[in-house]
Amino acid sequence: MFKITVTGTSSHFDCAEGDTILRSGLRAGIGMPYECSVGSCGTCKIEILEGEVETLWQEAPGLSERDVKRGRSLACQSRPKSDCTIKVRVGGEYESRHRPRSFAAELTEVRDLTHDLREFRLRADEPAKFLPGQYALMALPGVVGMRAYSMSNIENSDGEWHFQIKRVPDGTGTTVLFDKTRAGDKLHLDGPYGMGYLRPGRLRDIVCIAGGSGLSPTISVARGMSKEKSLSGRKLHFFFGGRGPQDICGEEFLRSLPGYGERIFYYPSISKPELDVEHRWRGKVGFVHDLVVETLGESLPQFEFYFAGPPPMVQAVQMMLTEKKVPFDQIHFDRFF
Ligand code: FES
Repeated sequence: MFKITVTGTSSHFDCAEGDTILRSGLRAGIGMPYECSVGSCGTCKIEILEGEVETLWQEAPGLSERDVKRGRSLACQSRPKSDCTIKVRVGGEYESRHRPRSFAAELTEVRDLTHDLREFRLRADEPAKFLPGQYALMALPGVVGMRAYSMSNIENSDGEWHFQIKRVPDGTGTTVLFDKTRAGDKLHLDGPYGMGYLRPGRLRDIVCIAGGSGLSPTISVARGMSKEKSLSGRKLHFFFGGRGPQDICGEEFLRSLPGYGERIFYYPSISKPELDVEHRWRGKVGFVHDLVVETLGESLPQFEFYFAGPPPMVQAVQMMLTEKKVPFDQIHFDRFF
C-alpha cells in the first residue's frame, strides 16, 4: 500500500501495489476527474509533486507533449512506486455512487447480435452494482492493459454483467475476446466507472443515440429508464446508426420493454446504402445525427441526451447538439478518444 495525499485538501487515500492512482482514488470515494480510464481522453491529468510513479502507457494519447513538459501525468496510467503527493482538482460530480471494485467473473454465455457485434454475459459471486450507462474494465489473457466495455443490463442481485461489444478489426482486445474466450472462462473485471449514466432526477424526455458498441450503454439507459419510477411518464427516442443494414440491431431489446411503440421509439439509419447489396433496406439513409435533427427538429433543447459509439459519430453528435443549443448539462457521454 502506498499513501497518496491530495495537496491543498485534507484528502488522502491508500493505493494498493499494482493499482493506479485514479482507480484507487475512486475506490476511496475521492472525486477524481476522469472519463475513459484507459489513457485516451486526457480528463484525468494530475501533477505528481512528490513521489515516484510508473507510467503504464507512455504513448497514451490523453497526454500531449506540452502536458509532459508541464509535468503532468494521467492518473489512470500512473502506478505509484512510493508514497506520493499529487495536485488534482477533485469534484463531487466524479464521486462514484458505487465505488469501483476489482473482482473475478465467469463468462457464462456468448451470443451474436450482428456479424460483428456480440453479447458477452459474465457472472460474479456478488451482486452487480452499477448505474445504467456505466462501464467496467476487463482484463483479457495475454493483452496488455485493460479494456473498457459498457454494460447493457442494469444492476442486479444475481451478479450478472452483460456487455455488447463490436469486434474491432485487428484490435488486440476484441480478437482475444471474440476468438479465444469460451463460456466457462474466468475473466477479471474492475468497475463500475463512467459519467454517462442515467440521471433519474432529470424529468425530461430522453434521446439515446448509438452506433456499434455504443448500443450497450444506451440499452442499459433504456432499461434503467423503464424501471425508474420518476421517469415513468417520459418518452424515449432511441436512434441507432450503422454503415449498412447488416450493422443494424437493438430493437429487440427495446421491444421487450413496457411501452414500446407508445412511449419508446426506435429509429435506425444506415450511412452507406451501397452496402445494401440485396436492396432490402426500407429505412432511413444518412448519418444518425442528421436523423435526430430531422425527427426532433427545434425541440432538441428540451431533451436529456445519452450517446455512445465510434468517435466520428460521437463528435458529430456533440457538434450537432452544440449547434442546436442543447444545454451542456443535458448531455451525458464518456469520451474514449
Ligand atoms: Fe485517464 Fe481518460 S481517464 S485519459
